[in-house]
This record gives sequence, C-alpha cells and structure tokens, in this order.
Amino acid sequence: MESDSGKQQQKDTFGCFKLVALIALCFVLVSPAESFDPLDPTGNVTIRWDIMSWTSDGYLATVTLFNFQLYRNIMNPGWTLGWTWAKKEIIWAMMGAQATEQGNCAKFKLKIPHSCKRDPQVVDLLPGAPFNMQFTNCCRGGVLTSWGQNPSGAVSSFQIGVGLSGTSNKTVKLPKNFKLLGPGPGYSCGPAKVVPSTAILTDDRRRKMQALMSWNVTCTYSQFLASKNPSCCVSLSSFYSDKITGCPPCACGCQNNDTCVTRDSKILQENVTSTHRKSDITPKPLLQCTHHLCHVRVHWHLKDNYQDYWRVKIAIINFNYRLNFTDWSLVVQHPNLNNVTQVYSFEYMPLLPYESINDTGMFYGLKYYNDLLMEAGPKGNVQSEVLMKKDKNTFTLKQGWAFPRRVYFNGDECMLPPPDSYPMLPNSAHKPPTTITFIATYVVFTLFFHLIVTHF
Ligand SMILES: *[C@@H]1O[C@H](CO)[C@@H](O)[C@H](O)[C@H]1NC(C)=O
Ligand SMILES: *[C@@H]1O[C@H](CO)[C@@H](O)[C@H](O)[C@H]1NC(C)=O
Ligand SMILES: *[C@@H]1O[C@H](CO)[C@@H](O)[C@H](O)[C@H]1NC(C)=O
Ligand SMILES: *[C@@H]1O[C@H](CO)[C@@H](O)[C@H](O)[C@H]1NC(C)=O
Ligand SMILES: *[C@@H]1O[C@H](CO)[C@@H](O)[C@H](O)[C@H]1NC(C)=O
Ligand SMILES: *[C@@H]1O[C@H](CO)[C@@H](O)[C@H](O)[C@H]1NC(C)=O
Ligand SMILES: *[C@@H]1O[C@H](CO)[C@@H](O)[C@H](O)[C@H]1NC(C)=O
Ligand SMILES: *[C@@H]1O[C@H](CO)[C@@H](O)[C@H](O)[C@H]1NC(C)=O
Repeated sequence: MESDSGKQQQKDTFGCFKLVALIALCFVLVSPAESFDPLDPTGNVTIRWDIMSWTSDGYLATVTLFNFQLYRNIMNPGWTLGWTWAKKEIIWAMMGAQATEQGNCAKFKLKIPHSCKRDPQVVDLLPGAPFNMQFTNCCRGGVLTSWGQNPSGAVSSFQIGVGLSGTSNKTVKLPKNFKLLGPGPGYSCGPAKVVPSTAILTDDRRRKMQALMSWNVTCTYSQFLASKNPSCCVSLSSFYSDKITGCPPCACGCQNNDTCVTRDSKILQENVTSTHRKSDITPKPLLQCTHHLCHVRVHWHLKDNYQDYWRVKIAIINFNYRLNFTDWSLVVQHPNLNNVTQVYSFEYMPLLPYESINDTGMFYGLKYYNDLLMEAGPKGNVQSEVLMKKDKNTFTLKQGWAFPRRVYFNGDECMLPPPDSYPMLPNSAHKPPTTITFIATYVVFTLFFHLIVTHF
C-alpha cells in the first residue's frame, strides 16, 4: 500500500518534471532571436576605437577589443574583426594586427597602402611576431580569455593608420557594419557610437594620452546563431544507484555521424598529430564516435552524503581528437552553490548575475596543472571534487535536486538528460542504506569512475 502511494508520488513527480521540461523547451524554442544569456546578462565584447592623432590625410587610432564576457573565452583561431568604411578610406599601416587582404590598391603609385578593401577584415598577429610590428596587448593569435577568468588576457589592441578619411572629428565618418567574424559564428555587433573620449595609457604605462575622438561597438554572442546543436552534454550518476544516466542520444546532433572515428581507428595512430600543425588556422574537428556525438561531456557524480556536507565529483571529458581546450571554463547552476565549502583541483568563482541569487559559479583549471583540457584520449579529461555545506531546509536526494540545473562548457550550454531518467533513489531509500550496500556502491564507483569517464 505504502509503496503504491510512493510510486504514485514518483509518477506525479515525473509528470511534474515533464511539464517543467516542456515549459523549459518552449523557452528554448522561443528565445533563438535573443542573444541574452541569463547567467551573464551584460556579457559582451566591446570594441573601442580611439583616434590618437590626426595625419595629413587621416588619423592614427588605437583599437582595443575587450572580452567582457564572464566565462566565454575567444578560442583559437581567435578574433576576426570586420567593418565597412563609410567613405573611401584606406589603411596605410597597422601595428599589432593585419588586414587579411590587401584588395585593389592599383591607383596608388608611390606609397602602397596596407589594405584598400572597402570591407577589410583584421586579425591579430601570431605570437613571436617581429618586434617592430608589435603593439600593446597584441600578438596572441586573437585568443582572449574571459573577463571572469583573467581580465589581463581578455584585452587585445592594435594601431591603425587610416587615410582618405577626413582629418577632424567633424569630417571623420564612423565605419559601419562591424562584425566579429572569428572565432566562429555566433556574434552580432551593434552600430558604432561616439562616446566621451578616453584616456589611454602609453606603452610604458607611465603616461595617459587623451584620445581626440572615441567610439564604441558592442557585440554579443548567441549560441543559437553559433550552432543549431549544443556542443556538450551532461551525464549523471550517484552513490545510491548503480544506474548511470548517459547523455541523451544525439544530444549534439547526429548529422555528422558518418565523419566520426572509433577509438581504434588507424587515422588516430597515424595522422592526428601529423595533420594538425600550429599553422593550421582552423583544424577540422575529428570526433570520437559516441551515441551523443558531443565534443565534450560533463559528468556529475553524487559521491558522498555526510551529515552536514555532501560531495560531488565532476569530470570533463574531451571527445575531439584535434582540439585542446586552453583556459576552459565550466559554469554550473545549482541552488547549493551558495555554500561551496571546498573545491579540489579546480579554481572556483561564484557568479552573481542577479544580486540576490548566489547559485551559479564558474570552475576553471589551475594554471599549469589542468587549465589545458587535452585532446581526446587517455589524457583528455580533467576532474575535481566539490564539497558543499547542506542547507537543511532545502537539501534532498529526492527528485534530482542534487543534480545541476544548467551546465555550460566554454560558454555554450550543455544538454542535460531528461529529468525522468535521473538516477532515482531506491524505493527502500526512505530508510538509510545499509552499510554493506553503501560500501559496495562506494567501491564500485571508486573502481569504475574511470570507466564513467571513458564511456557513456
Ligand atoms: C558590456 O560589458 C560591460 C562590462 O560588463 C558593461 O559595463 C557594459 O554595460 C556592457 N555593454 C552593454 C552594451 O551591454
Ligand atoms: C571635436 O574636437 C573639438 C576640439 O578638439 C572638441 O571641442 C569637440 O568636443 C570634439 N567633438 C567631439 C564630438 O568629439
Ligand atoms: C566604451 O567602451 C569602454 C571600454 O570598454 C567602456 O569603458 C565605456 O564605458 C564604453 N562607453 C559606452 C558609452 O558604452
Ligand atoms: C546516423 O544518423 C542518421 C540520422 O541522422 C541515422 O539514421 C543513422 O542510423 C545514424 N548512424 C549511426 C551509425 O549512428
Ligand atoms: C596520413 O598523412 C599522410 C600525409 O600527411 C598521407 O599521405 C596518408 O595517406 C595519411 N594516412 C591516413 C591513414 O590518412
Ligand atoms: C595538445 O597539447 C599537447 C601538449 O601541449 C600537445 O602535445 C598536442 O599536440 C596538442 N594537441 C593538439 C591537437 O593541438
Ligand atoms: C556568494 O557566495 C560566495 C562564496 O561561495 C560568497 O563569497 C559571497 O559573499 C556570496 N554572495 C552573496 C551575495 O551571497
Ligand atoms: C548558505 O549560504 C547562504 C548565503 O550565502 C547563507 O545565508 C546560509 O546561512 C548558508 N547556509 C549554511 C548551512 O551555511
């Protein structure tokens, strides 16, 4: 009788979960046009353009990109900035970056411009660029860390000498149609807006120079613009159940299931490293065949339930044979993150998108230890444990409460399994589990955690 009502209750819970999932799905389906990220509402990339001096036919400007996003870095192949000139401007010279095309400069005879394109595209220089081409904050191949992780790595700048542009703040016209084309699709930019001119530090950081005229462009990211499918998924397990909830099948879309490779594929032994060189600007992904076809899987294992604390083990597994994730980040939303007590072998930073809620945090690697998530294979994973203090009023093992609400890897939201597939408390779990079963599951999980990491 009692177990029947228990089942009924579980069924109701499932029904409720399904309803919530349906509502959540509606939100997901309704929001594509919007590039608003609820966990980083003001996240943006700002491009500031400061005219520092006028020249005989134009000006010299310092252009700076700020990655103000809290947890989305700009990965290899780095940023590509494009715009359309308002008049007949040309680029005479650049320092710290370069235009990808020179365009048609045929009408210039004496001095040849750097680029005559109407719609130039500019990229950062690679590390090790000649000293006389460098500029402050340049030459990192366009790679920017997120503001939350490392503000000093989140800024990139270059100098540009513009001609045929007008030589005063009344005759200069703002470039139009700014685009952040790299590191991939997903960014859209607003119009340039004149802002109060800024004072910027000179190279030696000992003097501030006032700009003669400044304008800003703000670009925001939308995962829906970037890709139809997620690129990562979440799997779950728990000490109280031997069920492992894998990623949903085709979580990241199955369109490419004919291009993935199995783990014993010969291509891997021969050509992964030989086909990928530093000069490869956009290495094609080479994915391991899995039922989810995601680049990355995040595993959340409910490890221990103590009297006052509980412990979660987190693993991030890379399935891409051609991609190392440098400065990766993992964002998790869970109501108990307001009481994180200890995080082992990852850095942790609480994020406060809305002042009153403290349920979201960012995990990232320890410098020189695990800030690099290696390509797929035996080393292609990073792991951590998180200890949280229980809030007795809310903590429960029931109804999937102990599993995360949202998970983002490198700024892209990962697909969670449907709530009705979560590892469920055994029916007898209303009584505390016997020591024997507890120890047995503990041993099983300690032994097989590496299996969870490599499978599912
Ligand atoms: C861009 O981000 C910065 C830093 O978070 C913020 O101050 C600014 O208001 C944002 N800009 C826009 C247009 O959202
Ligand atoms: C243009 O320059 C003049 C003189 O340098 C200055 O007074 C004025 O405020 C500037 N206008 C803008 C829009 O920056
Ligand atoms: C323009 O960008 C700079 C640098 O990111 C920022 O400090 C400033 O607040 C921005 N101005 C406006 C009006 O958005
Ligand atoms: C690949 O995906 C197609 C649908 O997109 C499906 O019909 C086919 O069975 C899949 N093949 C494998 C090996 O998963
Ligand atoms: C490996 O790469 C070499 C050239 O880099 C190529 O000749 C060879 O066919 C490739 N092997 C496989 C199995 O793709
Ligand atoms: C990943 O990084 C390791 C160590 O730096 C390097 O040996 C390997 O070639 C890199 N792999 C790729 C695909 O870039
Ligand atoms: C959020 O939690 C962090 C530690 O996890 C704490 O330092 C911070 O004060 C909290 N903020 C709020 C608004 O509760
Ligand atoms: C958890 O954190 C919140 C706010 O950060 C605090 O008010 C509360 O007392 C904490 N609970 C425990 C059990 O420490």
